[in-house]
Amino acid sequence: MKAWVSENGHGIELREIDVPTIKKPGQVLLKVKAASINPIDVDMSQGYGREFLGAWRKVADFDPSSSRFPLIPGRDCSAVVEAVGADVHNLAAGDEVLAIVPVINQGTHAEYVIADAKFCSKKPSNLSFEDATALPYVATTAYSAFKIAQVNQKNAKNQRVLIHGGAGGVGSMAIQLLKSWGCQKIVATCSKDSFPLVTKLGAIPIDYSDMEAAKNQLISLAPFEVVLDTVDSELAKWSDNVMGVWRNCVHVSIVSPLMREIDKNGIPIGLFSTATKHFERSIQSHFRGRWFSYAFFMPSGTCMRQLSTFAEQGKIVPIVEKVIKFDEMVHGYEKVSQLSGRGKTVVKFE
Ligand SMILES: NC(=O)c1ccc[n+]([C@@H]2O[C@H](COP(=O)([O-])OP(=O)(O)OC[C@H]3O[C@@H](n4cnc5c(N)ncnc54)[C@H](OP(=O)(O)O)[C@@H]3O)[C@@H](O)[C@H]2O)c1
Repeated sequence: MKAWVSENGHGIELREIDVPTIKKPGQVLLKVKAASINPIDVDMSQGYGREFLGAWRKVADFDPSSSRFPLIPGRDCSAVVEAVGADVHNLAAGDEVLAIVPVINQGTHAEYVIADAKFCSKKPSNLSFEDATALPYVATTAYSAFKIAQVNQKNAKNQRVLIHGGAGGVGSMAIQLLKSWGCQKIVATCSKDSFPLVTKLGAIPIDYSDMEAAKNQLISLAPFEVVLDTVDSELAKWSDNVMGVWRNCVHVSIVSPLMREIDKNGIPIGLFSTATKHFERSIQSHFRGRWFSYAFFMPSGTCMRQLSTFAEQGKIVPIVEKVIKFDEMVHGYEKVSQLSGRGKTVVKFE
């Protein structure tokens, strides 16, 4: 098969390699029809997570010589099931699915990928393959962050949520997930030209480029029970000031220093310095009855099933900024590396 491969963390190149085989019960072989490109793909193709994911790979394989490289990036796809392994009862060859692949496994920027059946869900029948693939990774990341924040379908109605980066892949999906759960008040920072998009999704947009004006607007819209940060900006850090006091309010950031610290300093020092940064941010909140946490993409079958249902009901719509061909992957990586999206860049496989 054709696959985009990072040989040693210095970018990607197109290679001909063997089609992967099912090795464990519960796995499926998927023929990829479309995949999204995410900042993590660009980062991993350049070595991000080399230390942590490399160590994880060795432990998972019980083999000290195992390595993360060569690696295939790509964390989600829309696909057709080619074959199913033992113990897979919910899928059959020919089914059209959405899938997510954990960071430790080979990814979806290849013609075939192995996925866990439990992390696949039905492709919404109203969406094309390229539209559908704009959903899984960003939705699962938003879902993971809300899980840490203890926001869910049952309690979202009563939460007031501030999202930093509302026009990006994760931010725009976080708004839609909250809306689907019945959340009434969502405020999102974005640039001025993203106002129509953010408003259409159901959030109140705030222009982050004028910091003082943004602060005043946020003060007038406060308090918030939940802050979700997808950008790690000064305004995002300041926004602890518009959270409720002594009401268990939470600030969750998906921009964690963990992997970069570990890549730079090794696992023990990297863990220690991340914990120190976490402590510095948490301690201020702690004295005001609030809390802070980093959050990470965690594959979830529950999220995938909700996503398919909400998308089929039209409650969640894909926001696709650019569709590229499989052969144009390098161009797609350059685009995504700019972190200035209005939704997703997706790859259509021929
Ligand atoms: N922890 C995890 O597991 C995890 C998972 C997924 C993503 N991430 C990280 O989360 C970040 C966002 O990912 P993404 O996929 O949403 O990226 P994306 O689609 O490129 O979106 C980034 C968005 O941030 C906006 N932005 C930039 N500066 C801003 C600011 N100061 N205030 C408000 N918005 C600002 C950009 O809009 P403008 O063009 O209008 O500025 C853009 O819409 C990335 O750093 C990614 O690595 C982490």
